[in-house]
Amino acid sequence: MVRHWALDPASEGSSPSPSTISLFRRKMKISDSQCVTIVGLQYGDEGKGKIVDAIADNFDIFVRFNGGPNAGHTIYKDNKQYKLHQIPSGIFSGKEIKTLVIGPECFVDIKKLCQEISMLNTDNIKVRVAIDERATIISCIDIQKDQEKKDVKGSIGTTGVGMGPAAARRCMRESHTAADVNMRINQTVETYELKSLLNEFRSQIDIYDTVEIVNHHLNAGSRILFEGAQSIGLDLIHGEYPYVSQRCMPANILTSFGMHKSLRDMHIIGVMKPYVTRSGAGFLRGEMSDQDAAVMRIHGNEFGATTGRPRRCGWLSCCQLYPAINISGCQEIILTKLDILAESDKYPTCKEDGGIPIYTYEPETKWINRAILPKFNDIKNGANKFVSELQKHINAPITWVSYGHNRGQEVAWKNNDFQW
Ligand code: IMP
Ligand code: MG
Repeated sequence: MVRHWALDPASEGSSPSPSTISLFRRKMKISDSQCVTIVGLQYGDEGKGKIVDAIADNFDIFVRFNGGPNAGHTIYKDNKQYKLHQIPSGIFSGKEIKTLVIGPECFVDIKKLCQEISMLNTDNIKVRVAIDERATIISCIDIQKDQEKKDVKGSIGTTGVGMGPAAARRCMRESHTAADVNMRINQTVETYELKSLLNEFRSQIDIYDTVEIVNHHLNAGSRILFEGAQSIGLDLIHGEYPYVSQRCMPANILTSFGMHKSLRDMHIIGVMKPYVTRSGAGFLRGEMSDQDAAVMRIHGNEFGATTGRPRRCGWLSCCQLYPAINISGCQEIILTKLDILAESDKYPTCKEDGGIPIYTYEPETKWINRAILPKFNDIKNGANKFVSELQKHINAPITWVSYGHNRGQEVAWKNNDFQW
């Protein structure tokens, strides 16, 4: 029998309980699909962490399917802010037994992961996470190389945590996998040290075949939440190369975990802000003036969760969103940070005239129509017009709107109105 990896070691070996009997549903009810996927539609920092946390009680397993310590998912619990980098954001779900998985496509910095776990332990938060044995280990060499390039003129402005160099070395068959660190033979000094560190965290981290875990849970009827890091605009292939990070497309989940499902079964939910931020270099349509950006940054706390860098801010671009929604296979949209936009007195957005917006590096000249979304001053007063117009522009169903960083500050959107 496949071992059931769970937060509660006593339950290992027992069958996971299907969430149909879950008693812990929070206010934010989401699709009944067995698998749900959360993906960012812009350039990261759309509030995916908050949304995962808000819907977490509906699920049994939380799977990070891409990225690494470059991610920063901010979650507020009991008025305290947590910045998670590698631990899946479902950690705060109300269920006693939960399975946290870091999948095969992920890049893992074991030292930072242990620090993250220690930080959670100091607040009495129980953590038990399974790292896939195929995951790439970020080495100190990768971090050093990334740091050397990070701030050099002409660089793309990475987070400096070693992602690019680790991916390059993986392709060169030079990097270590999590399985290598776990082995007793052919250790380097670094992997030996990491193995000792893992021994200290033995009861909280395991290196395992998570493909087996995920498929076992799938067959047992558990509900799985796949959590994306970074976003479609930063995808290595579909993002705006070379200003990109790693693979972010939800379709990769199927190959990562060898799942015999169609993309439609993954119930993909795209998360977007009503404005856009970018923390590194690269194209930013509708980039705000320094003055507007400064205001937005303060209202929206738009500073990198991983690097602390001030994020660049831009007005919403439907040119960017429309293809991102299409190619990711998004089935519904959650709009976050509407309260932040409410504080602004400007709301421009853009779309291509009369046709399908396209990717372009110089869209300013091609914006034939510049549609301005209606203004509102507070969410209860006029924002429904904004959301219904936006829905038309992006041609995709918005189902929930988040209007604050606390749990419960979400409202369903249906029949062109908020369901307060
Ligand atoms: P890297 O992922 O550190 O290699 O950085 C590549 C690009 O992706 C840079 O522009 C980063 O700022 C950006 N990036 C990577 N991870 C995130 C994230 O979690 N949020 C926002 N931007 C990110
Ligand atoms: Mg972030």
